[in-house]
Amino acid sequence: MTTMQEAVAAAERCTPEFRRDPHAVYARLRDAAPVCPMSPPHGNETYLITRYDDARAALADPRLSKDMYGAMDAYRRIFGDSSVALDDNMLNSDAPKHTRLRRLVNSAFTPRRVAALRPRIEEIVRDLLDGCPTREPFDLLPVFAFPLPIIVICDLLGVPAEDRARMQHLSTTVAQTGFGEEAKRAQQQAEGDLHAYFTDLITAKRERPADDLLSALIAARDNDGGLTEGELVSTAFLLMFAGHKTTAYLIGNAVHHLLSHPAQLRAVREDPELIRAAVEELVRYDGSVESATFRYATEDVEYGGTRIPKGALVQIALSAANRDPRKFDAPDELDVRRPGNAQDAHLGFGHGSHYCLGAPLARLETQLALTRLFERFPRMALADPAGGPRWLEVPFPAFRGLAELPVVLDPAG
Ligand code: HEM
Repeated sequence: MTTMQEAVAAAERCTPEFRRDPHAVYARLRDAAPVCPMSPPHGNETYLITRYDDARAALADPRLSKDMYGAMDAYRRIFGDSSVALDDNMLNSDAPKHTRLRRLVNSAFTPRRVAALRPRIEEIVRDLLDGCPTREPFDLLPVFAFPLPIIVICDLLGVPAEDRARMQHLSTTVAQTGFGEEAKRAQQQAEGDLHAYFTDLITAKRERPADDLLSALIAARDNDGGLTEGELVSTAFLLMFAGHKTTAYLIGNAVHHLLSHPAQLRAVREDPELIRAAVEELVRYDGSVESATFRYATEDVEYGGTRIPKGALVQIALSAANRDPRKFDAPDELDVRRPGNAQDAHLGFGHGSHYCLGAPLARLETQLALTRLFERFPRMALADPAGGPRWLEVPFPAFRGLAELPVVLDPAG
């Protein structure tokens, strides 16, 4: 990679080289074009932000809107037609609507509810590890990293066990934006199916409330009343969608990087208390939400000396911000003992009013998954193919995750 233009082009096209090492490209962009106008197909009015200070400020800037409806034209340029019905939720709205939706969901999604999940998550982790082959190489993603968050979020919401596989399939299909006409049709079909599924489930929970989050959301009220039917459906969808792949990919990235950094893994094994800090560092180092977070400018704004015109889309590269040497010493090193890597130092869970609502749950799941996996299989090793790990290929850098994670749990067993 020689020129800046090539760096921009690689980021836009998500070339295999870029997927293998987006951080090298982001380093160039941070230095030479920290607020970088992207060319078609993203449209001339999309700007990519890569420096930490700009990213943090942009995430909390009220002039940069998250309102999908207001941004519809700009949004369609990248995502195509998307199901507005499912997207009518807090992630895609501004205050005061955002404040109301988030408050209502927060009242049901309490720290107590998350903490109470610990024994259940322990049990799920144990059962999944019981089902893994120990001696031969296998892909850890479909048998461990993915099922864990999908079971947890289904249990939490009150989705019956027999529907889990369908939920996993539908939310994966919905996430496959932009892979041509056929994928788009499948995506729209999946959105319709999810909408119908949650509408029916909400009707059933209204008739027979249970001790689950969906029943609590139906009952949640504030001074302005409760969630409308449409908001309930789109909130259930958001929790399913946001709570699933993000965590699965983080677990995969974390296992891969710890196995590739034996001294770091040893430190975590020797001091189990270190797992909390280690997970924060792993989110910083290679988190699962790469730059899938968009805003659009409701007025002209200026970032890093670049004018972003009203109506432009602003794409914030969280992965780039989290490796900014202006903020983190030796940012390309994985250091589970990194001083000052507090939960809110990195931007892997966002920042400001849209800060990830599920972060406590994602942290708990990842901490327990890593702790139990490495405790139970002390000789575990990567079984990567000769060409090295295969990273996910997506049409724009949404999620950062592995396409597969071949491992052997007990090579000498
Ligand atoms: C928002 C990351 C897991 C629910 C966000 C945002 C990020 C993020 C970066 C902010 C997006 C923006 O500002 O545009 C992650 C990562 C996860 C994770 C890296 C796992 C490693 C979860 C889980 C849940 C969840 C497990 C729920 C069970 C949400 C919700 C929002 C959100 C509801 C929207 C908050 C709002 O708009 O106010 N997440 N997330 N996330 N996340 Fe997560």
